[in-house]
Amino acid sequence: MNRILSFIIIFSFNWITACAFKKNKFENNQLNQFSLQEKGDYPVIGILDSPVSRFLKSSGIDKKDTMIPSSYVKFIKYTGARVLRIPYQASEAKLDYFLQNINGLLLTGGSQLVRYEKTKIMSEYGRKVKYLLKKAIEINQNGNTFPVYGICNGFSQIICSMSTNDTNICDVLTYKHHKAERKKIKFTQPLNQPFSSMKKQIIDTLQRENLLLFYHSLYLEPKFFQQNSLLNAQFQISSLSSDYQDIQFISSIHHKSYPIFADVFHPEKATFEWKPNYISHKIESMFFSFYIAKYFIQQASKNNHSTSEELIQDFLEFKEDSTLIETPMLSYQSIYLFKYNSTYLQ
Ligand SMILES: *[C@@H]1O[C@H](CO)[C@@H](O)[C@H](O)[C@H]1NC(C)=O
Ligand SMILES: *[C@@H]1O[C@H](CO)[C@@H](O)[C@H](O)[C@H]1NC(C)=O
Ligand SMILES: *[C@@H]1O[C@H](CO)[C@@H](O)[C@H](O)[C@H]1NC(C)=O
Repeated sequence: MNRILSFIIIFSFNWITACAFKKNKFENNQLNQFSLQEKGDYPVIGILDSPVSRFLKSSGIDKKDTMIPSSYVKFIKYTGARVLRIPYQASEAKLDYFLQNINGLLLTGGSQLVRYEKTKIMSEYGRKVKYLLKKAIEINQNGNTFPVYGICNGFSQIICSMSTNDTNICDVLTYKHHKAERKKIKFTQPLNQPFSSMKKQIIDTLQRENLLLFYHSLYLEPKFFQQNSLLNAQFQISSLSSDYQDIQFISSIHHKSYPIFADVFHPEKATFEWKPNYISHKIESMFFSFYIAKYFIQQASKNNHSTSEELIQDFLEFKEDSTLIETPMLSYQSIYLFKYNSTYLQ
């Protein structure tokens, strides 16, 4: 708690100094553009939980339990929005209920499998993401706005979810060895969403310096994206990066019609994680992180769903049976752990 508090103080202090003394660097600072559409209440973002990481071995943890790394929760909360856990093990009917009670959905990074490599069958997690994406698209098609944002593994989840019975889009993804690396990115020109109104100062810095943290095991080459008419028809590329072997891969996509988008890099780590210890906490990385979160929440504030009193009283902000545990063996500071038999699922 102390650590979190001191971070907030340091962070706000940096922010204030950045605004006060570096005005010429960040003229029209990002905060000026941050106006939520007033809807009486701040948006509620659903975060899909995931199976406990296979690296998390402890006596108190059942392998059926689920988790959300706390940095994703903070990433949402520091925009002023609130969070609700969406249990991936819930039935489709229950997922429908949750969807009606949230204004947007976040798909986290992690090591959750999209599909089993040998059999090519989608995992339960993968199938639930596909269901949620299908519903999210329907909500948007019906004239309401419903954003979905995927980070890292969430990027692969969104790509795979576009599969049909005839085409398994997971096949466009290439497997690479897991390795945390800091890279620069190249924004497509003219800028696509979510980056269209980002400041030139930040664009230039991120294109010049290796600041963004990548930690992924699947990547998508632009040529495979272009060759796939299903992906091409629905998504556009917003940024590219390249591997240590100089293989170009897509680092951001955005749906052509709806606020459904994904990044392979980790914006939440710049602000809320310190492992690996070479994560960049430079002011440009922080502003970029906040910019993406802000874009997401602004879209969510256009959504007209409202959260039921029952969920607000008992489950918003994980008031249900959850435990925040420190995770020295993982690349996260801490995670929220949810018991598989929690009453929330019933
Ligand atoms: C929300 O917006 C959609 C699309 O405009 C509309 O059909 C629906 O009735 C609205 N729901 C509420 C609760 O206002
Ligand atoms: C795809 O397969 C599922 C399950 O086998 C089936 O329920 C669904 O109707 C199929 N969809 C189409 C468009 O054929
Ligand atoms: C869940 O399981 C644990 C361990 O078996 C038990 O102590 C707890 O009471 C159960 N909770 C519910 C809500 O069933």
